[in-house]
Amino acid sequence: MPDAVDVLVQDHREVEELFSRYERAANADERGKIVHAVIHELAVHGEIEELLFYPRVRTSLPDGDALADEAVDEHLEIKKALNDLDKMTARDDGFEPRMRELMAEVRHHVEEEENDMFPRIRDAIDREPLEQLGNSLQAVKKFVPTRPHPGAPTGPAGKLATAPPVALVDRVRDTVRSWRDDYM
Ligand SMILES: [Fe+2]
Repeated sequence: MPDAVDVLVQDHREVEELFSRYERAANADERGKIVHAVIHELAVHGEIEELLFYPRVRTSLPDGDALADEAVDEHLEIKKALNDLDKMTARDDGFEPRMRELMAEVRHHVEEEENDMFPRIRDAIDREPLEQLGNSLQAVKKFVPTRPHPGAPTGPAGKLATAPPVALVDRVRDTVRSWRDDYM
């Protein structure tokens, strides 16, 4: 069974695949669609990390609070970039440089998690609870917001209080956007 780290690493690989598709894309339309997928993937990934994974980092590692705080700060920068991209089209002047910044930020964040935080979490938490956490991460993916919300709470208590209606609105907006991407 995949553990929490497997689930998060798999998300990272999917985002990297989208980045390389973006870099190879032939035109602005294609780039725009890929970025919509990037926004969705990264928003959901960030939400599940903040909701379930970073709280475990805080309680499981001696310097967990510092590590989680740094990760949440990096998430905020990523959410701001996603939010900017969310409001632009791939034909806008600022789009390409903002996307480059996002890719650099995400690649740095992924490297830190995979080289430092994730191996240490695997050492600190037994296989079974880590698999249970992986299950929970997969399960909440269906219910978390799918758009970036840089002003929203980053801790689990705040998220549980505010996220469900936001997630619902995001999903309606996603449905409309994907219809537009496909048919307009
Ligand atoms: Fe991550």
